[in-house]
Amino acid sequence: MKVGSYAVARMVGDWQEGPGPGHRRLSDRLRLLILDGRIALGAALPSERDLAGALAVSRTTVGAAYRTLAEHGYLATRSRARATVRLPDDASGRLPERTDEGAVDLSVAAPAAPVEILHAAFASALRRLPHHFGRHGYDPYGVGELRAAVADWYGRRGLPTTPGQIMVTSGAQHALALLTRTLVAPRDRVLIDHPTYPHAIRVFTEARARLVPVGLTASGWDVPQLRAAAGGAALAYLVPDFHNPTGLCMPSGVRRELRPGCLTVVDETLADLALDRAPDAAGAEPLAAHVPGAVSVGSVSKSVWGGLRIGWIRARPALLERVVRNRPVTDLGTPVLEQLATAVLLDEGRTRRADALGELRARREVLVRELGERLPEVEVPCPAGGLTLWARFPEPVASRLAAVAPDHGVNLAAGPRFGVGGAFERHVRLPFTLPPELLVQGVERLAAARDAVARGAFGHHVPPPTA
Ligand SMILES: Cc1ncc(COP(=O)(O)O)c(C=O)c1O
Repeated sequence: MKVGSYAVARMVGDWQEGPGPGHRRLSDRLRLLILDGRIALGAALPSERDLAGALAVSRTTVGAAYRTLAEHGYLATRSRARATVRLPDDASGRLPERTDEGAVDLSVAAPAAPVEILHAAFASALRRLPHHFGRHGYDPYGVGELRAAVADWYGRRGLPTTPGQIMVTSGAQHALALLTRTLVAPRDRVLIDHPTYPHAIRVFTEARARLVPVGLTASGWDVPQLRAAAGGAALAYLVPDFHNPTGLCMPSGVRRELRPGCLTVVDETLADLALDRAPDAAGAEPLAAHVPGAVSVGSVSKSVWGGLRIGWIRARPALLERVVRNRPVTDLGTPVLEQLATAVLLDEGRTRRADALGELRARREVLVRELGERLPEVEVPCPAGGLTLWARFPEPVASRLAAVAPDHGVNLAAGPRFGVGGAFERHVRLPFTLPPELLVQGVERLAAARDAVARGAFGHHVPPPTA
């Protein structure tokens, strides 16, 4: 696979910033893109001349950067052929370190399972399961019990919904992949919040869509900007409820006013994670209540447990029919027992548990406090919900921090994962899902990694994918 010179130029972003010679900064930035998986292993880089043209620098600068990468084992070169991306042998040899039992994993934002609640839901589901034994068990729309429970979940939130408008999927990620396969053609424009959920970026990029990133402001969504960017877009993908990674929640006024003017996919994966209001208080109503024709995607991965692998799509039945026709390419249905257990969880209101939300609130406080004490230079806005803080460092160090951090016993998700074009090099997403003692330890280790980066540490870890 070839990577174009302008694509590389976009990804390296503002590499000209910072101390040291230009070729060194460029090789550093390319190395971090490789380590972060944003330039795939085996990809053929542009020729020195083409990349020099796209970056508006001399060919000598690019040549020197490529040589450094080759010397450190990140490029395989052959005369008269494009250099291809590889990893140095010792980098892949180090992979197991990341899963050391002692490492604090701040790269994944997902809660541990609520054990007793899950046991009870599965016990109930097992009793219900024999009702399904008379049929084959393949149902691309999902079982009736869960479709009805999801429809009620929307009804309770102020968006009347029938089971016929619901299709069950194996998680929200699956829902996004199916919708993209159905609705997005190569070269279509897809509007995204910027930053946004990284695996959505991945899905749209693989569909060869052209991404139209619309920056979030400190307070959230900018209506005129969104409307202007939506002109000519095939689809807008928005995460208005406790947005990943910023935790922002779109205010009611903005929901009413927004009307993007193109087909909108609303990702409500984190909608049940309001931390600053009582679990039964009315929250912001679903965005689809105000955007005609909007398609919603949901999940219990963050409100209950990711291991259930249950998500859904809410859309017009005619659109669901098109999605269902595409489903056999990926799978033939979602496991019945997990669907029945999720129906119980939704019917019993277990996706909004006062105790779980209270615990998250306390953990958010611990993380904010520890960061304030150990990394006072880092800006940490406190979000009204969700699972993560979007921390901003004074220097563009995020990718380097993520590459160095495992040496200090902590795994991180660097800001550029959540954006396009090398943006967010000053940001790191920090989840507050771990128990307080691990959060304290994680921040302590993060501070050690920050000190190592300041001393010029290089780092050679391949960070894991981020949920
Ligand atoms: C905004 C958003 N959408 C979708 C997903 C994927 O959810 P699921 O586990 O249901 O596939 C995540 C997981 O991190 C997410 O944050």
